[in-house]
Amino acid sequence: MSALFTPLSLRAVTLPNRVALAPMCQYSAGPDGLPTDWHRVHLGSRAVGGAGLILTEATAVVPEGRISPQDTGLWSDAHVDAWRPVTGFVAAQGAVPAVQLAHAGFKASTYRPWDGRGGVPDAEGGWTPVGPGDEPFLPDHRRPTALDESGIARVVEAFAVAAARALDAGFAAVEIHAAHGYLLHEFLSPLTNHRTDGYGGDRAARMRLTLEVARAVRAAVGERTPVLARISATDWVEGGWTVEDSVVLAGELAAAGVDLVDASSGGASARAAIPVGPGYQVPLAARIRRDAGVLTGAVGLIVEPEQAEEIVAGGEADLVLLGRELLRDPYWPRRAAAKLGAAPGWPDQYARAF
Ligand code: FNR
Repeated sequence: MSALFTPLSLRAVTLPNRVALAPMCQYSAGPDGLPTDWHRVHLGSRAVGGAGLILTEATAVVPEGRISPQDTGLWSDAHVDAWRPVTGFVAAQGAVPAVQLAHAGFKASTYRPWDGRGGVPDAEGGWTPVGPGDEPFLPDHRRPTALDESGIARVVEAFAVAAARALDAGFAAVEIHAAHGYLLHEFLSPLTNHRTDGYGGDRAARMRLTLEVARAVRAAVGERTPVLARISATDWVEGGWTVEDSVVLAGELAAAGVDLVDASSGGASARAAIPVGPGYQVPLAARIRRDAGVLTGAVGLIVEPEQAEEIVAGGEADLVLLGRELLRDPYWPRRAAAKLGAAPGWPDQYARAF
């Protein structure tokens, strides 16, 4: 009996197994952040491949919240219409379509990786980002405008409206992106939040924006829809955000209506010393799960079926998210199921091959 291929119920939604496609930017949106055939085929293939939860890439709640001009968004009814064929296909394969709602903060308006580095100028479709302050992330990034309190309120509202639109678009779950040095993490981390108003200073004040977003998203989607939150569980920098902070945040997120904490790390500082290796972030998920008593997802260099099985069976996390391995092999979940002795369950269309 495989723990990895056991269903997981979150509110009114049941994931058929514990394997998720990690959110990954595809830098392939059409004008104004509209998803394209690339997203339907890319996400659809991973659903055919057997992942139980299909997370979209970071999908911006406002235009200026895109990381690159080629990122997807969900800030208008046109986005709702464009996402419907994607979610419809994913759900028809028995997988759960989920959107990662995001605001890139001071890391917005950057080139997609194969077009260059640093900030995209206005002349090339870029824009002025916003952040907790007016310092750029790196010297080659654009200088942000510091959000004032009305700007912060608009961000919270934009997450809520996008979450409501996500349901219209056919998504069955929502993930709040509060990791990787993007806007919410910029407010959480003492490395990037130097505000002196009610959104900066001690940990409670730095958590305020993320918790306001979590409560607003929960209110927008109602009680039946799962809400996940991706956090950077540590900055990996002395004096930065720590896993102890994450345990406190996870408890507060749960109280705000978040059902599962997806434990990633890093992104707020280029100085971070990240001990990259197989399953290197799994201990973060395990620590949060144990000390905050919340469901967690583990991500980062999880590539072997037995490794993924061990994480779930050993109680380190409730879900594993695979990123690059699912880029290399969309059928990884079906192969893993066969290897772990669970029913591989290939689609009827492919049955004659097995
Ligand atoms: C990512 N990652 C990422 N994370 C996130 O929260 N939102 C995103 O949009 C993206 N985009 C993205 C694009 C690409 C091309 C890669 C490779 C990664 C991080 C990703 O979700 C995951 O956490 C890491 O890749 C580590 O997991 P793997 O790849 O080792 O399984």
